[in-house]
Amino acid sequence: MKPSACRPLLRLSTLMSLLMQRAQGQFPIVQNLTVTEGGTANMTCRVDHNDNTSLQWSNPAQQTLFFGDKKALRDNRIDLVRASWQELTISIRDVTLSDEGPYTCSLFTMPVKTAKAYLTVLSVPEKPEINGFSKPAMEGDQITLTCVTSGSKPAADIRWFRNEKEIKGAKEVNASGKTFTVRSSLQLQVDRNDDGVAYTCRVDHVALLATPQQATEVLEVHYAPRVEIKYSQALPQEGQPLKLECVSKGNPSPDPVLWTKDGGELPDLDRMIVEGRDLTFTSLNKTDNGTYRCEASNHLGTNHAEYVLFVYDPNAVGQHGPDHALIGGVVAVVVFVTLCLIIVLGRYLARHKGTYLTNEAKGADDAPDADTAIINADGNHAHAEEKKEYFI
Ligand SMILES: *[C@@H]1O[C@H](CO)[C@@H](O)[C@H](O)[C@H]1NC(C)=O
Ligand SMILES: *[C@@H]1O[C@H](CO)[C@@H](O)[C@H](O)[C@H]1NC(C)=O
Ligand SMILES: *[C@@H]1O[C@H](CO)[C@@H](O)[C@H](O)[C@H]1NC(C)=O
Ligand SMILES: *[C@@H]1O[C@H](CO)[C@@H](O)[C@H](O)[C@H]1NC(C)=O
Ligand SMILES: *[C@@H]1O[C@H](CO)[C@@H](O)[C@H](O)[C@H]1NC(C)=O
Ligand SMILES: *[C@@H]1O[C@H](CO)[C@@H](O)[C@H](O)[C@H]1NC(C)=O
Repeated sequence: MKPSACRPLLRLSTLMSLLMQRAQGQFPIVQNLTVTEGGTANMTCRVDHNDNTSLQWSNPAQQTLFFGDKKALRDNRIDLVRASWQELTISIRDVTLSDEGPYTCSLFTMPVKTAKAYLTVLSVPEKPEINGFSKPAMEGDQITLTCVTSGSKPAADIRWFRNEKEIKGAKEVNASGKTFTVRSSLQLQVDRNDDGVAYTCRVDHVALLATPQQATEVLEVHYAPRVEIKYSQALPQEGQPLKLECVSKGNPSPDPVLWTKDGGELPDLDRMIVEGRDLTFTSLNKTDNGTYRCEASNHLGTNHAEYVLFVYDPNAVGQHGPDHALIGGVVAVVVFVTLCLIIVLGRYLARHKGTYLTNEAKGADDAPDADTAIINADGNHAHAEEKKEYFI
């Protein structure tokens, strides 16, 4: 080919590549932005290869905010951050929900090229409140705890915790304008175990980052007393002291408690001292035998517990009481160990001497439990008897 024919072709290709470059590089680049209400939105528009063509930012209402470095809209929240041929960045302070929408960056080429950056404004949920609960509740009451948080965008999430453990509530979301009111309720039938329990409603939201908002309600549940008597001696003996403690739990606290003997007043107030909830016998006497009752009341009811006092003769106790118990215990342990050995041995024999299946071993193997095994096993009848004697 001749150079003369070549040259226009070369020029054309250069022009083409130039055009291509322009088509590739000369357009505005923007990014969507998410800002929390009250924050600052920096909106950047970039043009990588610009031949000094003007840039402009306009708001969702199509009003021009900045044309190059020239401010076009009177709004002192909007400032210029950077203006060059490659970039136009503006900032909007104290962003409100009404600032949300598509912002347009225009590059005034022929024709005009635009790009839209969507500004999303988050709204922080208000501090949650728990209501629907009037203190205190009565045991057995059905109560509803309702937690409400308003003003969130997007809608916040509410989670419930009983002490630290999460429990499920019923959530309801209500839109009010651009924000949401979220409500979650918890239905409970309260009992004494709920008294003093903290129920926490926790609000999770993107705009709260790492610190969720929460509200806590500590339940107060009233219930009738429950009474129990604790004693200082298992085997009260004549001449010794004895302390009976009336443990009564109720809300409101039942105070004082009432001690009686066999349905009447305490017969000997010199030796039977009532102090607070305790009844103390300074020195027991056989004549103290009887049924002692402790009664506790609050406005929700009355309950009582009873203790049957049997005053042991110190001599009799020395000879028999502890000995019986001790011997019984030792025999029980011995019998138990023997039973275990027999069962293990029986299993061992059955497994290792397959052919040596005597009636004895068979009985033991077929039995549903250890007791029957022993009874079934002929040779061990004596042990079964022994066991019965001490365990009954
Ligand atoms: C916005 O730009 C200004 C100026 O460059 C800077 O100080 C500020 O930190 C930026 N704010 C955000 C949220 O990027
Ligand atoms: C762009 O503007 C700069 C000065 O702002 C000037 O020096 C340069 O020649 C211009 N380029 C074009 C392609 O107009
Ligand atoms: C920007 O936001 C708009 C509207 O929410 C969405 O349609 C678009 O895909 C987003 N663009 C990018 C790059 O995320
Ligand atoms: C908002 O919630 C209330 C109950 O809390 C309900 O009665 C009402 O219908 C809800 N409104 C809307 C628009 O969902
Ligand atoms: C027990 O009480 C009786 C009659 O009240 C009395 O005669 C007796 O001495 C008492 N016994 C002891 C050990 O205090
Ligand atoms: C009191 O206990 C003694 C044993 O210490 C017993 O002999 C006596 O029968 C009991 N009396 C009553 C009234 O229960």
